[in-house]
Amino acid sequence: MSPVLRPLPPLVPLRDRTVAVSGAGGALGVALLQRLHHQGARLIALTSQPRALVLADGSGGTVPLRSVPWCCGAEAALANLLPEVDILVINHGINAFGDRCADAVQQSLEVNALSAWRLIELFLALPERPAGTPCRELWVNTSEAEILPAISPLYEISKRLLGQLLSLRALDRQGENPCRIRRLVLGPFRSGLNPYGLMNADFVAGQVIAQARRHCGLIIVTPNPLTYLLAPLAMALRHGYFRLTSRA
Ligand SMILES: NC(=O)c1ccc[n+]([C@@H]2O[C@H](COP(=O)([O-])OP(=O)(O)OC[C@H]3O[C@@H](n4cnc5c(N)ncnc54)[C@H](OP(=O)(O)O)[C@@H]3O)[C@@H](O)[C@H]2O)c1
Repeated sequence: MSPVLRPLPPLVPLRDRTVAVSGAGGALGVALLQRLHHQGARLIALTSQPRALVLADGSGGTVPLRSVPWCCGAEAALANLLPEVDILVINHGINAFGDRCADAVQQSLEVNALSAWRLIELFLALPERPAGTPCRELWVNTSEAEILPAISPLYEISKRLLGQLLSLRALDRQGENPCRIRRLVLGPFRSGLNPYGLMNADFVAGQVIAQARRHCGLIIVTPNPLTYLLAPLAMALRHGYFRLTSRA
């Protein structure tokens, strides 16, 4: 008897969807915006830089985008913008490397974890899109440091906190067409935050978008094979533990 082949679900559409990316001026932010432009998305760049972001499109022109300035602590100022957004990519971050002074603790927690968490709460509180239309999506860049050492204790602590808060929040998605959460677990790539990364940001952005379009909730891009084993296991154990020990 021939096995029954189920058709693959269609790829997640990006054309004409409004995608906002934080940390837009950084290496991965730029690469994601350029790749999303080629997928036909409408782009909003959330940047902490005072000047508007201008990106080359690779063929002599510039990427059409809306540059929106914001800073950590002022997430509520984005409340009027977020309802327009179909996909929010929380991507900003800092790396304090070996620093452990009080200021570095404060900055790492604030930028990597708390500001991201406030954006998550604002975005998940939005009314869901009607059933039958593409749902809102939230992509959160937590990093491989969520589960493995990154030779940077404050980076690990803050990214783990963000990852755990995201897991807790993900338990409460209800409704007919709830927001889809995708977690980005990325290995080392070259950027302002990590000059020694093995991968380049454009390759990582391409993989992130390809996996998101194939409906992956846990998006892993890394040369480290351990991550492909440990990340799903850690997420599943955490999911079970949080479900048993907390309530909505
Ligand atoms: N590089 C790696 O090896 C690696 C590995 C795994 C995960 N990641 C994660 O990937 C994300 C992007 O990082 P990247 O490697 O592309 O580094 P990057 O080039 O340094 O970009 C990070 C961006 O975050 C924004 N940012 C920094 N401080 C901020 C603040 N105080 N308030 C608001 N925004 C701030 C800045 O963008 P604006 O100037 O536009 O605001 C900055 O350019 C980060 O979340 C990082 O943790 C990186």
